[in-house]
Amino acid sequence: MHITLPEKANRLLQYLKLKLLPSKLFFRTMLLIFIPLIMVQVVSVVAFFNGNWEKVGKRLSNNLTNNIVNAVELTSEHPDMLSEMQKIYNNTYGIEFEKITGDEQLAVKTSTHYGKDYKIVTGFLEKSLHQKFPNSMTSVYLENGRNDLIILIERNDGLYRFKTPTKNIFSTSIFGFVAWMIGTSLLLFIVATLFLRIQVRSIATLAQVAEDFGKGIDSPFKPYGSSEVRKAGIAFIKMKERILKQISERTQMLAGVSHDLRTPLTRMKLQLAMLPENPENKEFIDDISEMEKMLDGYLAFVSGEGGEKNTFVDMNELILSIINKFRNGKAMVRYSTNDQVSAIQGREQALKRAVTNIISNAFNYGKEIAVALESNNNKLIITVDDDGPGIPEDKREDVFKAFYRIDESRNKETGGVGLGLSIARDIITSHGGKIELSDSSLGGLRVLISIPL
Ligand SMILES: Nc1ncnc2c1ncn2[C@@H]1O[C@H](COP(=O)(O)OP(=O)(O)OP(=O)(O)O)[C@@H](O)[C@H]1O
Ligand SMILES: [Mg+2]
Repeated sequence: MHITLPEKANRLLQYLKLKLLPSKLFFRTMLLIFIPLIMVQVVSVVAFFNGNWEKVGKRLSNNLTNNIVNAVELTSEHPDMLSEMQKIYNNTYGIEFEKITGDEQLAVKTSTHYGKDYKIVTGFLEKSLHQKFPNSMTSVYLENGRNDLIILIERNDGLYRFKTPTKNIFSTSIFGFVAWMIGTSLLLFIVATLFLRIQVRSIATLAQVAEDFGKGIDSPFKPYGSSEVRKAGIAFIKMKERILKQISERTQMLAGVSHDLRTPLTRMKLQLAMLPENPENKEFIDDISEMEKMLDGYLAFVSGEGGEKNTFVDMNELILSIINKFRNGKAMVRYSTNDQVSAIQGREQALKRAVTNIISNAFNYGKEIAVALESNNNKLIITVDDDGPGIPEDKREDVFKAFYRIDESRNKETGGVGLGLSIARDIITSHGGKIELSDSSLGGLRVLISIPL
């Protein structure tokens, strides 16, 4: 049965989950182990206190009280037996006792060291003494670092003082019990932490490798951890190999096609050159040159794919070198950077081509150009603004298609083939980044490139 909570309760639950539950798998699993563990421990301590602890404590206290009752009654009836009794008690029960009479009583009472109250130790004994001597003042103290128990009983015939080791009434097994519990918990904690860390690390490594692959970094990876995680790792490697194989097949095929087409084109150009000159032929020749340019562009793109290694690329330097190459008398360029980290991991030539394509477009279509480089903790953002005609919103997806150009007539003088943006997008996405078009405050197009660091 599925219980649907009211919207508000549901949201509250989500919020609590977000706030209270740790987000990391490691800590979640730790909670899963330790909440039941702590509950078991608490329950066993409570059960121990209520059962065993109380029973043992009462029994020991009652025994001692009975011995004391016997001693007090016998010695008050037969005072001459006192020394004999003292000997027996000392030897058999480990109880020292004395009977104090006269003025000394007060001295003993005041000299008794009144320690702090330890009801947990003396509670049962005090109760049973009080039951057995309802008419006398009875009191219990701890002495000698809580190792000795002093019991005073004031009766008409004198003050009885008993001294016996505390362990006679207090079962120290509770300390052993708690120590064992803490010890085993600690051991479990260490084992669980070590174990979990390996398991969680295997998942984290897989996630990292997958993220790297998205950015175009091919990190070496050997699956490890539990069988499920290993399986996921193996599946990931297979998928990665399939994707790489597909890309290289596609690239090779396109390179082959482009290359094959060049030969007949060159032949056609030669044949046309041999024909007498007339305007129709001229147009034909122009078309053929354009086709050649397209093929060259494609070949350049395709040959750049693959092969290039990842390095650290300083985007600040890269942009500066591109701008300097394009700087001419006709356009005005501004460049700004927030001086944060500007190095990213990537393929330098490819990145250079991508940024060059964007900046060259700006130079082709605008007179005023502003380039900016910014970075924060997790990404690097390059914006290229110009004051050109811009790209209408409904064309902003089309311009990324290969060989697509808006309004051929306006593009004639720029002489491009329409591959620039599609190549740029290909490169940026293979680095895990994004490229977006919008309106610029300068009046033309704004291109925003963001690449994860
Ligand atoms: N900054 C810009 N301002 C206005 N239009 C642009 C701008 N950049 C690109 N475009 C339009 O988008 C089209 C596609 O651009 P893209 O860079 O892919 O090709 P291209 O510049 O025409 O040729 P290529 O870059 O291959 O030499 C261009 O033809 C142009 O119409
Ligand atoms: Mg271009």
